[in-house]
Amino acid sequence: MTDRTYRIAPSILSADFARLGEEIRAVVAAGADFIHFDVMDNHYVPNLTVGPLVCEAIRPLTGATIDVHLMVKPADRIVPDFAKAGANIISFHPEASEHVDRTIGLIRESGCRPGLVFNPATPLSWLDDTLHAIDLVLIMSVNPGFGGQKFIPHSLEKLRAARKAIDAHRAQTGREVMLEIDGGVKVDNIAEIGRAGADTFVAGSAIFGSRDYKATIAAMRAELGKVK
Ligand code: DX5
Ligand code: ZN
Repeated sequence: MTDRTYRIAPSILSADFARLGEEIRAVVAAGADFIHFDVMDNHYVPNLTVGPLVCEAIRPLTGATIDVHLMVKPADRIVPDFAKAGANIISFHPEASEHVDRTIGLIRESGCRPGLVFNPATPLSWLDDTLHAIDLVLIMSVNPGFGGQKFIPHSLEKLRAARKAIDAHRAQTGREVMLEIDGGVKVDNIAEIGRAGADTFVAGSAIFGSRDYKATIAAMRAELGKVK
């Protein structure tokens, strides 16, 4: 049915921060494709996490893609700092930027790949005027701010709609845009999420909360194998 490349992106939000370096190494050795790096500001979302300093500190530990998810308002000021700190992808929420096209351009000019993030109630119509300029669409399957929340089932419909838009865009332009899902992804629902069109899967508590990261990531890939 599809020969899609699937990527697993453990979210460090659920890592043991007292041993962050070891956790990064362990999860990359366990088969992670991306390191998902959640940045929260206690303003756009009700939680506070880490910034460019920590991104810079983990950069030398891995060649894996660092996938920065900005949940900060405003977004622009901090973008060049993350680029300098070694981020590869920088995604932001349209509600957190006064000028969405400018923020996308800023991320690109800084040498990173831009992504746009959709909260559960953010309409996909933003894509009409942004899909041509971004490399990643991130669908939130929880309201952003915390790890360990339950997957919101309506996200599957949203994924299907986003997949349609991305496929149509690829047919027209030949450009690949990644479709990432974030929130409540587990071994037991990842196949259904893959079937709805996601190709990149953020998982925080499901991976870092498990005893054997390698076994968990392998189980996720095995489930995704059933989608094809
Ligand atoms: C939530 C974050 C997620 C979070 C996912 O605001 O954007 O990346 O870490 O955690 P889980 O996989 O536990 O739902
Ligand atoms: Zn995230």
